[in-house]
Amino acid sequence: MGDIILEMKSITKEFPGVKALDNVNLVVERGEIHALIGENGAGKSTLMNVLSGIYPAGTYDGEIYYDGELCQFKTLKDSEAKGIVIIHQELALIPLLTIGENMFLGNEKKNRFGSIDWDQTYNEAEKHMKQVGLHESAQTLIKDIGTGKQQLVEIAKAFSKNVKLLILDEPTSSLNDEDAKMLLDLLIEFKKDGLTSIIITHKLNEIIYCADKATILRDGSTIETLVKGIDDFSEDRIIRGMVGRAMDDRYPEREHNVSSEVGLEVKNWTVHHPLYPEKIVDDNISFKVHKGEVVGFSGLQGAGRTELAMSIFGRSYGTDISGEIYLEGKKIDLKTPEQAIHNKIAYVTEDRKTNGLILGESIRFNTTLARLDKVCSNGVIDSTAEKKAAEEMTEEMGTKTPSIEQMIGNLSGGNQQKALLGKWMFAEPNVLILDEPTRGIDVGAKYDIYCLINQMVDNGKSVIMISSEMPELIGMCDRIYIMNEGELCGEVEAKNTTQEEIMGYIMSTAN
Ligand SMILES: Nc1ncnc2c1ncn2[C@@H]1O[C@H](COP(=O)(O)OP(=O)(O)OP(=O)(O)O)[C@@H](O)[C@H]1O
Ligand SMILES: [Mg+2]
Repeated sequence: MGDIILEMKSITKEFPGVKALDNVNLVVERGEIHALIGENGAGKSTLMNVLSGIYPAGTYDGEIYYDGELCQFKTLKDSEAKGIVIIHQELALIPLLTIGENMFLGNEKKNRFGSIDWDQTYNEAEKHMKQVGLHESAQTLIKDIGTGKQQLVEIAKAFSKNVKLLILDEPTSSLNDEDAKMLLDLLIEFKKDGLTSIIITHKLNEIIYCADKATILRDGSTIETLVKGIDDFSEDRIIRGMVGRAMDDRYPEREHNVSSEVGLEVKNWTVHHPLYPEKIVDDNISFKVHKGEVVGFSGLQGAGRTELAMSIFGRSYGTDISGEIYLEGKKIDLKTPEQAIHNKIAYVTEDRKTNGLILGESIRFNTTLARLDKVCSNGVIDSTAEKKAAEEMTEEMGTKTPSIEQMIGNLSGGNQQKALLGKWMFAEPNVLILDEPTRGIDVGAKYDIYCLINQMVDNGKSVIMISSEMPELIGMCDRIYIMNEGELCGEVEAKNTTQEEIMGYIMSTAN
């Protein structure tokens, strides 16, 4: 064994009704990139929260040795003082503050009079930003940079704290491929300077690309640690460790019985930016989805796909919207999301934190939210019907939870996503719009979600799928529309296309 920087021994952590970690062991060597992997709810985030003192010593069993020393962190600050910095699954930056302000939030640079020293704040910030390849001004507001750069700000912030062990919890889940690769390359670069990283990701190709070792958790237990160059370090092998069996197919078989009847048609749809009305976000887009068809939308970030979906879904985005929507051949005007839901259109949002779920409420409460009428009699919620609905959807989605009374905010990231899907499945839509439906979802659960999608189209429904994962679109769709910079720039049959062809359409219209 080389030089061990971290050893977590027999860590056990319980929440009411849930044993999240059961005697977990983790050994990390100095200067390596160590992947932590496992299905949704396996305990990855919990283990890292134990390590960083978010769950203080005393609230878990087991021991943590860091740099050879037994550590009993009481707070996040204690672990940071040792150079352990965690970047969470959901970014914690404040949009209306500058990059520099965010970097030193709670850790402000003060001058000798006790007030904030802005020169020092911004100079220091820019020094660390350069380390991660960010060349903006530190006075730029967070909201004005993309998620890829925001993730880099988090890393720059870690450097400002003198990081030695960097923990990244799903850092690439909302990044496009290009930004994700840039981030992984940075980690590889930092490794040369001796930085140790622990990375959690559901994108297995990323593990193969950057990790030296991978520790697999399943149901709160350590299964094994695979070492690159010694063990089989392939995606198939990792999946076997995660789910306990081999998975021959990533995408379930489907009949592809596309009807000639059109479920949804959109004509000449144009949407302007809500804050800058002169800016066109979606420019004269026309498309249709047949009954029994899965139609994909591919494109880079900023292509206008989410804006298209949201504006169709009862004008929940945009201003000065023009164009026509036909539902089963009948022209309709959807002014609000309620009208869209009433017309049996559902939109599963890409950002479940702000748009999809009420985190402080239970699964039971959230499941029926879009269709209270289904569980109401005489305007009063029938609690038996409400419970039954939540039980059924939890079962069908395979959401891992001790009960339907569990608060959504206490579910693991992937299980929140399943609860969100359950909510919309309960609404029994005829047209289902899915925006990044498998973000942060493990391979096994992805398969389950794909099966649900297939079941819907087999029942004659229409499904629209927006995804940044091209293999997912190619594996699941009948047809794929390609968008770039607010315009439709191509349309392909999924079974005859390749990632290269789709990228080709995007690049040929990029300017
Ligand atoms: N604060 C909490 N209260 C109750 N249960 C919790 C809490 N935090 C986590 N859990 C439960 O502990 C288990 C492990 O959750 P954790 O968030 O560590 O999973 P994960 O491996 O990070 O999953 P994902 O890939 O979905 O993010 C889950 O069953 C989760 O519901
Ligand atoms: Mg997690």
